[in-house]
Amino acid sequence: MTQVGHSAHGKHTGQLGAPPVSGRVPAGVFLTLIEQHRQVAELLIQAGSSDSATKRAERWAKARGRLLAHERAEALEVYAALVGISAARETLEQHSQQAAELESAVSEMDALDPESDIWVERLRDVIAMLEDHVRDEESDFFPRAQGLLRESVNDLDERYRSTYLDVLHTLA
Ligand SMILES: [Fe+2]
Repeated sequence: MTQVGHSAHGKHTGQLGAPPVSGRVPAGVFLTLIEQHRQVAELLIQAGSSDSATKRAERWAKARGRLLAHERAEALEVYAALVGISAARETLEQHSQQAAELESAVSEMDALDPESDIWVERLRDVIAMLEDHVRDEESDFFPRAQGLLRESVNDLDERYRSTYLDVLHTLA
């Protein structure tokens, strides 16, 4: 049965972990979001690294919940805080398009049998999509947003964490 592979180093061969190009050191909510990116990516890889349909389904459920809670809470608290700021308009548009693509890729996965090879292929697509999204966020969207939100990044962190848990519970 096909699996989502790891490189010889035991790590997924994606771009996760690339440093932000802007040179801005992440703070507040952006540190939390970056940490969660790593966790969600690892959970998705774990979901695809089993031959057992039961394990795949269990691990997918966990990864799916955390991915959706992250994306939805981030939209509700972080990107919502940028609405009305003209310098953020393009970032907001790009983010909402990517978030919609991720949501629909997740819905597609939900309709597939975890035992099938197509499930693994679609999971790979979700991982690749997440990697692109993470790269855009960490190298571009987050540094811009942090520059615009300035000292509210710590308050936003608290609100984000609380909303994240609320959304996660509704998905469970
Ligand atoms: Fe996002």
